[in-house]
Amino acid sequence: MTEDSFHFLQDSLTPRRIVEELDKYIIGQDNAKRSVAIALRNRWRRQNVPESLRDEIMPNNIILIGPTGVGKTEIARRLSKLAGAPFIKVEASKFTEVGYVGRDVESMIRDLVEIAVNQVRAEKTVEVQERAGDLAEERILDIIFPQPQGQSTGEEGEEAVQSQTREKLREQLRAGNLDKRMVEIDTTVSSSSNMQVFGPMGLEDMGVDIQNLLSNMIPKKKKRRKVSIAEARELLRQEEAQKLIDPDAVSRLALERVQNAGIVFLDEIDKIAGSKNTGSGVDVSREGVQRDLLPIVEGSSVNTKYGVVRTDHILFIASGAFHVSKPSDLIPEMQGRFPIRVELDSLTEEDFVKILTTPKNALLKQYSAMLEAEGVELTFEDAAIGEIARIAAEVNDRVENIGARRLHTILTTLLDQILFDVPDVITERRVNITPELVEKKLASIVKDRDLSQYIL
Ligand SMILES: Nc1ncnc2c1ncn2[C@@H]1O[C@H](COP(=O)(O)OP(=O)(O)OP(=O)(O)O)[C@@H](O)[C@H]1O
Ligand SMILES: [Mg+2]
Repeated sequence: MTEDSFHFLQDSLTPRRIVEELDKYIIGQDNAKRSVAIALRNRWRRQNVPESLRDEIMPNNIILIGPTGVGKTEIARRLSKLAGAPFIKVEASKFTEVGYVGRDVESMIRDLVEIAVNQVRAEKTVEVQERAGDLAEERILDIIFPQPQGQSTGEEGEEAVQSQTREKLREQLRAGNLDKRMVEIDTTVSSSSNMQVFGPMGLEDMGVDIQNLLSNMIPKKKKRRKVSIAEARELLRQEEAQKLIDPDAVSRLALERVQNAGIVFLDEIDKIAGSKNTGSGVDVSREGVQRDLLPIVEGSSVNTKYGVVRTDHILFIASGAFHVSKPSDLIPEMQGRFPIRVELDSLTEEDFVKILTTPKNALLKQYSAMLEAEGVELTFEDAAIGEIARIAAEVNDRVENIGARRLHTILTTLLDQILFDVPDVITERRVNITPELVEKKLASIVKDRDLSQYIL
C-alpha cells in the first residue's frame, strides 16, 4: 500500500462501508459493528475538523461488552485490517500484575509503533521489489560476465560484441537457464543484526535505540558465499531492496500511521474496574492502572526509539465481559473517554450455522480447503451443518458458554479420524459429512457431561 492509497482508504471508509466489510466476516452483532464503524469514522471526522475546534472534541473510544467467544476481538481485528491500521491487543489486567510499574503502560504504544514500522517496511519492500530485482540482475551479470576493467580499448566493435554477449546472458538468466550455476557473491551482514540487545531499563523509555546504536558502531562485514544463481538472485534482491528503503522515511511514516490510524484493543478492561464497595487493596491497584492508562487514552506523548508519538488520535477499543463489575465501576475520567458502549449478543444455533458457512474464512471452508490440498473434496450436508450447530449450542448451554469457539472443538472432534486417514487410508476423491455421521461421532460425547467437558 502506498501512502496515497492508504489515505484514500481512510477517506473512503464511511460507517456503512465499514459495516458492509465487517459483515463479510462477522455474523450478527449489528450494534457492535455499527458502533465501531461510528467510532472509526468519528476519529477521521475529528482529524478533519478545523484545528481550533479539534482539541475540544473528545476522543470517541468504545467499550464492547459481552460474553466470551461472541466476536469482540474479531470485530476489532477485522476493523483494523480493513483500515490497514496498525493494531495491537493488550490485556488490561496484565498491568495489575506484581512487578508492574507505571511506565509499562506506555510500552503498548511502543509495541504498536514497532508493528507499524514492520508494516510500513513490508509495504516499502514490495514497492521497491522490481527495482531491486533489476539491480540484483545487474550484479549477477557483473559476476558471471565482468565488465572489462579500466578504459575501453577504443575499438567500437569490441564494445558492441561485449554488450551483445551481456544481453544474451541476461536472456538466459531471465529464462532461468543459469539458475543452477554456482557463483560467489558478497553479501553485507551487519554483525549485530542477529543479536537481541536488552538495554538497561529506562533507556528504552527515553527513546534510545540500543540495538541500532550498537549495529552502527560495529562495522558492517562483507561475507563471501558460494550459492546458486537462483539463490543469489534472491539474496541480492533482498539486499538491494534494503538499500533502496530509507529507514528514516519508514520511521516517519510509521509514527504518522500510529498517530492517525492506530488502534489499541484493551481486552479485559472489566478486570481493572474495581467494584467500589469492597474497598480491598486490590482495588487500589486496579484504579492505579486506570490512572496510568488515562493520559495515554486522553492524549499524551510517548517516547519511542523511532521518535515521539502523540496518542491523541489513537482509537481505543476496550472489551470485557463485565460479569462482576460494570462500566460504571471505572473511574469517571475513564468512563468519559469511552463514551460509546455496546453490548454483544450471545450466539444462537442459527448464528452458528451461518458462522460455519458464510464468512469468507468460515470454518467449513477452511477444512474443505485443507483437504482440497490433498485432492479430496470435503462436503457437508445441510442437515449435518444444522446438527453441528445444534450440538454446539447444547454443549454451550450444558457445560459452559464459550460462544463460537465451541465450533472449533466440535469440528476437530468430528473430523479427527478423517484428518488422520487422508490420504493414506481414505483414498476416495470425495468425503461427504452426513447428519448420521455427526450423530455417530458426537452424540455419545454430548450425552456424557464429564466427557464433553474434556473433549468438546
Ligand atoms: N459473530 C461471529 N461471527 C463469526 N465468527 C465469530 C463470531 N463470534 C466469534 N467468532 C469466532 O469465534 C472465535 C472467537 O471470537 P473472539 O476472539 O472475537 O471472541 P471474544 O468475543 O473476543 O471473546 P473473549 O471475551 O474470550 O476474548 C473467533 O475465531 C471468531 O472467528
Ligand atoms: Mg477477545
